[in-house]
Formats: sequence, C-alpha cells, structure tokens
Amino acid sequence: LLEGRTVNLKIVEREDLPLLTEWRNTPEISGEFMFREQKSRAEAEKEFDNRAPDSKTFFIEKKDGTKIGWIGHFLNGRLLEIYYYLLPSERRKGYGTEAIVIMVDYLFLSRDLTRVQATCDPDNIASQRVLEKAGFKREGIIRKVGYNVGRIVDDCLYGIIREEWKEPKILTKTRIK
Ligand SMILES: CC(C)(COP(=O)(O)OP(=O)(O)OC[C@H]1O[C@@H](n2cnc3c(N)ncnc32)[C@H](O)[C@@H]1OP(=O)(O)O)[C@@H](O)C(=O)NCCC(=O)NCCS
Repeated sequence: LLEGRTVNLKIVEREDLPLLTEWRNTPEISGEFMFREQKSRAEAEKEFDNRAPDSKTFFIEKKDGTKIGWIGHFLNGRLLEIYYYLLPSERRKGYGTEAIVIMVDYLFLSRDLTRVQATCDPDNIASQRVLEKAGFKREGIIRKVGYNVGRIVDDCLYGIIREEWKEPKILTKTRIK
C-alpha cells in the first residue's frame, strides 16, 4: 500500500480484475479519450498474467477503502509511463493530482530513473492540467501515434525529470518494488 494524505494506492491483484475490467469497459468511467476494445474477463486475466515487466496497476482508494479509480505504470520502450482514471463522481476534488504525486514519488524512490512520462490526447484538458499540477512539463506533440475511434491521432508528451522532482512530496519510503 502506498499511503497518501487523502488517498492510498493499492496494487490490483488478479481477483480484482472483474471490477477493473467492468470500469475499463464503461465509456463514462474510462473517459471520452480512451476508446479501447471491450475486454472479457478471460482476456483481462490473460493480459494480467502476461503483463510486461515493470508494469503495474493500483486502485486509487479513499482512506476508508472506497475505490475511486486506478493508476498505473508501464514501460514504453525504455521509458516509464503512467496512466490514471477516476470515477466521474470523484473528479475535480484533487484526488487525481494526489494519486499522480504519490506515483511519481514511488517511482523515483524505488527505481534508478531519470524521468517519468505521460501522454494524453491534446484535447484532454483535465489530463494536461492534472499533470502540470503534479509537476510535469509539456515536452511536445508526438504526431500520429494514438488511436481514437479508428482515427490515428497526435498525443501530448509530458515528463518530469529527477532534478525537477528533487525529493518526495508525499511518500517518504516504499517497500513495494
Ligand atoms: C484526468 C483526471 C484523472 C484528473 O483528475 P482530477 O482528480 O479530476 O483532477 P484534480 O481535481 O486533481 O485537478 C487538477 C487540476 O486540473 C483541473 N481540472 C480537472 N479537471 C478539469 C477539466 N475537466 N477541465 C479543466 N480543468 C480541469 C483542476 O481544476 C485542477 O486545477 P486547479 O487546482 O488549478 O483548479 C480525471 O479528469 C479523469 O479521470 N478523466 C478521465 C480519464 C482520463 O482522461 N485519464 C487520462 C488519460 S491520458
């Protein structure tokens, strides 16, 4: 468990996949900028069992244990990238910013990384704001890289480097690798 001030991050285990898959398959939850194939439980389990090294998903939980979204990291080539989703009713309350700050603290504390990055649709204002608030800088546009309802679209690239992060903001230590 990664403990924050108003939210904690809790690793998603195999038995959590039905809930996570249901959320991911619900467009109102997964967001207007994530158009992905609907996944069956079996497909989600196969994906989980074969997940790439250094990729992990966490539930974002309130302090009373209520699950309000998910956040994770994966290797995009050599680069560690994060993603994050909140239930619609829990947006714009600061939870997204806190979850990202905890994730960045955790990644820099637990790994010898020079940078952490994120990408998002150039029209996804909420995602760009939350990244900037969590200390990321906009680095540019990656052209023709993402899929959005069958169209090939551009992505915004955001990054935070270790020198800018300087020190943990919320987490002081982590035992999770
Ligand atoms: C992106 C997301 C996680 C943001 O989390 P959040 O908890 O709502 O964000 P916060 O409350 O921490 O807000 C951070 C900043 O962004 C701003 N913001 C949040 N949503 C916004 C919106 N829809 N439009 C404009 N600004 C927005 C907030 O006002 C705040 O800035 P401020 O403190 O200067 O006012 C959430 O909107 C979400 O889950 N969206 C759908 C999934 C998604 O798009 N994920 C990213 C895929 S790349």
